Amino acid sequence: MASRIRLGIIGLGRAAGVMLPSFAAHPDIEIVAAADPLVAARERFASVFGGAVFADARAMIEGAALDAVYIASPHQFHVEHALLAAGAGKHFIIEKPLALTLDECDQIVAAARAAGVITLVGHTQGFNPALRRMRAIIESGELGRLRMMNNLVYGDFLYRPRRPEELDTRQGGGILYNQVPHQLEMIRVLAREPIRAVRATTGIWDAQRPTEGAMTAFVEFDSGVSASLTYSGYDHFDSDALCGWIGTGGRLRQAAHGAARRRLAAAGSGSETAARTARGFTGGGAVQQAPPCQPHFGFLLVSCERGDMRVSAQGVEIFDDAGVREIVLPPCRVAPDRDLVVDEFVLGVRTGQAPLQDVAWGRETMRAVLALLHSGQQRREIMLK
Ligand SMILES: NC(=O)c1ccc[n+]([C@@H]2O[C@H](COP(=O)([O-])OP(=O)(O)OC[C@H]3O[C@@H](n4cnc5c(N)ncnc54)[C@H](O)[C@@H]3O)[C@@H](O)[C@H]2O)c1
Repeated sequence: MASRIRLGIIGLGRAAGVMLPSFAAHPDIEIVAAADPLVAARERFASVFGGAVFADARAMIEGAALDAVYIASPHQFHVEHALLAAGAGKHFIIEKPLALTLDECDQIVAAARAAGVITLVGHTQGFNPALRRMRAIIESGELGRLRMMNNLVYGDFLYRPRRPEELDTRQGGGILYNQVPHQLEMIRVLAREPIRAVRATTGIWDAQRPTEGAMTAFVEFDSGVSASLTYSGYDHFDSDALCGWIGTGGRLRQAAHGAARRRLAAAGSGSETAARTARGFTGGGAVQQAPPCQPHFGFLLVSCERGDMRVSAQGVEIFDDAGVREIVLPPCRVAPDRDLVVDEFVLGVRTGQAPLQDVAWGRETMRAVLALLHSGQQRREIMLK
């Protein structure tokens, strides 16, 4: 392998736009190529990062000298692109959701194993440094055993411009495939044990956007640790109101209840796909200033036997018998959670040691996602173990 890991990007949309600065800032990564069917996206990429551009992933994987790829194409292409990468012996980072069905996930896991490549499913909110710190506190035993987690996320997911398939559950649309993986990754990173059972109610409340936009769920882990997960993407309440108006990425933001609905209504439905494309990779540059606060995903409260923890502006806030204190986390290079994705991937490629959140882990997250979806549809608890 060359001294730096030569990386190709598949899909130059919104996900790539927010990951590229973290790749660009890493001394061990060299961004050498990208593939996207959109000419404008390829031109923007070439103007910012240079490198070769291709209209499709296979052409890039076969035509460019690469060690690894980052798969950030829409969900429905993940299985195809992961199999292409593994088949060519390339290490890969793949965006969530790993794939749309368990069968597809199994194909990816088997192909990656056969090829002996390093894989990582990310970015997910399980990479937030504050969560990793909470996990270290749980492991230290300082607050006793982990008992219960509560995560509440209210936002505008369903009313940000969407492609048609993002509003069709059968094609991977709705919050279950797109947002709930983040919630599950957070609680799995904290609990680090198999999920025993799930029960969910899911809501499709807008006939114009007929996919799941809300969920309330109960997740029980093997040892009895439990989690309640609530998500609403209906753009009324916004849970950043409970987090000092620090946005998901760690930047301060304005209150915006209902703003996405109003923008969508003003634009008219005909232009939604174009608006979705415009929200993608804008070629905003390789350099990005680090956010002033820690990233978070809604309001998360983690309870151990002897204390509670939550993500604070600068790290982790601990509430125990002594009162309240904050652990301040060190500054990051670009974006704390995405830097960690790149660090863990690079470490894996360099040492051959699989990252925690590899494709086998991602398969288990998708198993739980699908169980929550079916639980909501069938109105019953689903046992995973
Ligand atoms: N981790 C996160 O926080 C996060 C954020 C956004 C998106 N995502 C994930 O990233 C993926 C992409 O979402 P997005 O919001 O960037 O979508 P997007 O629509 O903004 O971008 C997708 C890009 O992929 C391109 N594309 C379409 N078909 C392709 C193909 N066959 N080969 C190569 N490129 C192709 C499109 O032209 C577009 O430029 C999704 O799976 C989504 O779940 C993750």
